[in-house]
Amino acid sequence: MHSTETESVHNFSCYLADDSETLKLGEKLSTYLHAGLTLYLIGDLGAGKTTLTRGILHGLGYSHTVKSPTYNLVEIYKISGVYFYHFDFYRFNDYLEWEEAGFRDYFNSESICVVEWPEKAGDLLPKPDLRLALSILGTGRKIELRACTEAGKQCLKQWENQKD
Ligand SMILES: Nc1ncnc2c1ncn2[C@@H]1O[C@H](COP(=O)(O)OP(=O)(O)OP(=O)(O)O)[C@@H](O)[C@H]1O
Ligand SMILES: [Mg+2]
Repeated sequence: MHSTETESVHNFSCYLADDSETLKLGEKLSTYLHAGLTLYLIGDLGAGKTTLTRGILHGLGYSHTVKSPTYNLVEIYKISGVYFYHFDFYRFNDYLEWEEAGFRDYFNSESICVVEWPEKAGDLLPKPDLRLALSILGTGRKIELRACTEAGKQCLKQWENQKD
């Protein structure tokens, strides 16, 4: 992982040279996550959203295979008593599908929700605490992390305080 380009407690970005760096960033981020948080993962096909989620899950202590939820819409994990829902709404065609799928109850104070393609679920989807945007840059990826709520700010603040 290379050094950050912008320095702010509530918003920062960095370059990830290869997929091992995406995994590493996810593992690092996992240290600051707790039940009740919702994360949006924004980015084109192949931008690295699932890879990042894999890193988060490994960081939380999940050591098995992490499948992409592209076909099942959601993969469910329970780690140390906390539910972790990994969604991928790429296949949604209209916003009502989100409501009909019955996922609203999954977003609660007992769970961590990570959402790929949140824009496909529209305005009905609960708002994120953290918004992570990945984009392809050369042979690597750029990631921008932004806090959208007080809880999200606390995560990034703790991260910032841990830096050397
Ligand atoms: N920092 C990186 N540099 C180069 N390649 C990367 C990086 N991070 C992840 N990749 C690679 O990008 C490819 C796509 O990753 P991934 O499946 O995580 O994308 P995605 O955003 O989830 O795509 P989709 O929208 O199709 O679900 C994988 O081969 C992965 O190894
Ligand atoms: Mg994916």
